[in-house]
Amino acid sequence: MTRTHTTALEQPLLRRADFRDFQLPNRIVMAPTTRARAANDGLAPTEMHAAYYAQRASAGLIITEGTWVSEQAIGFVNVPGIYSEEQVTAWRRVTDVVHAVGGRILVQLWHNGAASHPDHLRGELPAGPSAINPHELSFTHDGFKNTVTPRAMTVVDIENTIADYHRASENARRAGFDGVEVHAIGSTLVPQFLNPRLNRRSDPYGGDSARRRRLLLEILDAVAEPWNGRCVGVRLSPYWTAGDRFVADDQALADYDELVAALADHPVAYLHLRGRNPTAPGATPDFDAIARYRRQFDGPLIANNGFDRESGNALVDAGIADAVSFATHFIANPDLVSRFALDHELATGDTDTYYSGTAGGYVDYPISGASGGVA
Ligand SMILES: Cc1cc2nc3c(=O)[nH]c(=O)nc-3n(C[C@H](O)[C@H](O)[C@H](O)COP(=O)(O)O)c2cc1C
Repeated sequence: MTRTHTTALEQPLLRRADFRDFQLPNRIVMAPTTRARAANDGLAPTEMHAAYYAQRASAGLIITEGTWVSEQAIGFVNVPGIYSEEQVTAWRRVTDVVHAVGGRILVQLWHNGAASHPDHLRGELPAGPSAINPHELSFTHDGFKNTVTPRAMTVVDIENTIADYHRASENARRAGFDGVEVHAIGSTLVPQFLNPRLNRRSDPYGGDSARRRRLLLEILDAVAEPWNGRCVGVRLSPYWTAGDRFVADDQALADYDELVAALADHPVAYLHLRGRNPTAPGATPDFDAIARYRRQFDGPLIANNGFDRESGNALVDAGIADAVSFATHFIANPDLVSRFALDHELATGDTDTYYSGTAGGYVDYPISGASGGVA
């Protein structure tokens, strides 16, 4: 792509954005990234988390790593939760530090449903929409393990789960977050319910697409309640493909069209969209795939998946999204906003340390110096 923006202030990504419930000083959002650093019995964030997010506080908005709404939600090692008092206190330290250095931070609320493993659940079976194995891999203390056939959630399980989301959202407010994002991407609990291959229920939470999206809409209403109907975003991945279970075919996209239209009747502060996977590493993402949802959703839109400085600026310049989120670039470039402004080269992250649990590869990525090299 030809470089069209030569000076920092001409960059659309560096313009302020008014998201109604959030004021962003720039449009460079830190995407949620699981980093598996809560390596303690209470699954509480640590001083390392405070340092990690403080280092990245120049982002227009930080969305934290996916964070468990309950013990039943757990499906990956060393991921923090927001269901206990210990966790609320520990998150307060993170939000205080991020705010002290001028940032804004939302917590992403996560439930892994059938994509968990008995190892995470004291030997109990994971629960999902129906007793159908999602054929995913769950990262356990003994490495990646194949998922099993879960048990189908009862209606009482579903009501309890929605109550867990509500409590987690109340906890987020007490922990000092600026809002919450509902994690509804990938192969996790909400997309399991949306998916007719995994949701074979015949009660009000299964059947046609309206019934399959009911869980998500009830979760959105529940998590917005502690925030007086404000400050709640939702993250969707209509193009997600995984094995023969998640297929982005015409039917799936039609279901998502209906879902996005239905969001208009619920308290949604923004839509965070994971677009199609780029065709090759470094290839320009598919703008039309994002534009489809720009036409359908009337609020702020954050786009993601494979963007860099050039493609992010071009997307915002074209009016297709209001902001762009970056995951892998924020892992390796704590000063991503400055690097974009100065047009400095980006560092590449070490994938071996993504989930290693240590400070190495987490809080030790350098900022760039005057010449673009590391300081
Ligand atoms: C190490 C890692 C952890 C991730 N964890 C999460 C997560 O907790 N929640 C989520 O919604 N997406 C998660 N993602 C997906 C990213 O938010 C993002 O959609 C993906 O990396 C593509 O964006 P990028 O091209 O800017 O990296 C993760 C991605 C990576 C690489």
